Amino acid sequence: MTMGMKFASFVFMLTVVLLEPKLNVHGQSISIRKMILNFIFPKDSDVVRVRKPEDIKTTMNNVTTLDFFGLVEKYGYTAEEHYVTTEDGYHLVIHRITGSPLFKGQQTGKVVFLQTGLFGTSDCWVLIGAGKDLAFLLADKGYDVWLGNARGSSYCRSHVKLSPRNKEFWQFSFHEMGTRDLPAMIDYVLDYTKQKSLHFVGISMGNTVLFVLLSMKPEYNAKIKLAVCLAPAAFYTEVSPLVQYTINMIRSIRNFQEILDFNEIYEVGSLTSTNIMMGRTLCADNTITQAVCVASVFLFSGANPSQLNTTAFPEILSNYPAGSSRQTLVHYYQNMVTKKFQAYDYGYIGNYKHYKQATPITYDVKKITAPVAIFYGGNDLLALKSTIFELYKRLPNVVLLEEQKSFTHLDFIIAIDVNTLVYSRVIELFQEFDNKA
Ligand SMILES: *[C@@H]1O[C@H](CO)[C@@H](O)[C@H](O)[C@H]1NC(C)=O
Ligand SMILES: *[C@@H]1O[C@H](CO)[C@@H](O)[C@H](O)[C@H]1NC(C)=O
Repeated sequence: MTMGMKFASFVFMLTVVLLEPKLNVHGQSISIRKMILNFIFPKDSDVVRVRKPEDIKTTMNNVTTLDFFGLVEKYGYTAEEHYVTTEDGYHLVIHRITGSPLFKGQQTGKVVFLQTGLFGTSDCWVLIGAGKDLAFLLADKGYDVWLGNARGSSYCRSHVKLSPRNKEFWQFSFHEMGTRDLPAMIDYVLDYTKQKSLHFVGISMGNTVLFVLLSMKPEYNAKIKLAVCLAPAAFYTEVSPLVQYTINMIRSIRNFQEILDFNEIYEVGSLTSTNIMMGRTLCADNTITQAVCVASVFLFSGANPSQLNTTAFPEILSNYPAGSSRQTLVHYYQNMVTKKFQAYDYGYIGNYKHYKQATPITYDVKKITAPVAIFYGGNDLLALKSTIFELYKRLPNVVLLEEQKSFTHLDFIIAIDVNTLVYSRVIELFQEFDNKA
């Protein structure tokens, strides 16, 4: 463990001990353990999304947060919402930024498609603000910016016949996001804009989803002009000590899956009024509890204090995390344990049903022939350097591999200087590729 992590874990432990057993949130006493459980497996989901900042009012029973339109229009940009239904019946929302106050010329018509990470939505690309977020910077250059979402996240909780209250609704992982959601969204966008190909940017799981698509349906390689992969996660040949600790803990709990099934926990990390309120009250500047928030981020994602803007915590936590399936986490867990990049393991009988073989299929990353640019963090605890090199070694068409030494996993989306350090490079790359074509 590095010094930063030791310090962060010390702060975390100390804070947990100090806060035990009770925390006072709006006059209600709750134990921190219950709070953490509530945060990970929330039951309520009564968040009201509003479009105007002045409509944000937090009361005990009605927590409001800005929707995508609100986040974008706040800075004078214009947006659209589009809908697509996957072949297995999930209704997805795709967002689009249609205009920037800084771009007056003729739109280039060139499409960039942004795919968010685990528990994220299209909101995650516009949370920090104009002049900072990649989506805004691309719109400033005249790009046609589309932002994808994944089934199960707060924008995509609807299905032709299943309800999120059904267990069946949640039986998916990044495998389905890659084989069903992403191709449906890409086809819709290309069809709508009458383009043949697009630029892709993924953060973390957004890249996992892309790799699943391009290896399972290689015909989609031709539709990707250039894929920029920020902190990509695919091969877990090595995991951080904390992740290893978590894996060992889960392995030591007998019948862990059965316990979760019994409690009907299929959904994780959802956007709920409780989580938003906790984020706004406990992670705000000038609260002693903010240390817990900082420590949690550092522990899992890596520590890079000089790039962390704690003032933005309450805003970020008003739209993130926004939910996914338990199966997605289990799928990552399986790949970490087996150290393979393979499909979800349903067990012997289930695997025959899904893949017509006893074991899960392995994703053949040699089929990913689209040009790929990889940006990774030297300080990233969720996509360790050795795993990035493993990916680099196996992908046949990597055009760029670039390290940001101090960057953690989340820095690719929230670092104070991510715009000048990474995003300006990404835009240069797109322009280079567009000029070549
Ligand atoms: C919650 O707030 C919104 C926006 O202010 C309002 O439209 C809605 O009626 C409120 N809902 C409840 C249950 O109070
Ligand atoms: C930090 O976040 C706050 C709130 O979003 C913002 O006003 C401020 O400019 C940010 N600071 C830096 C250094 O980016």
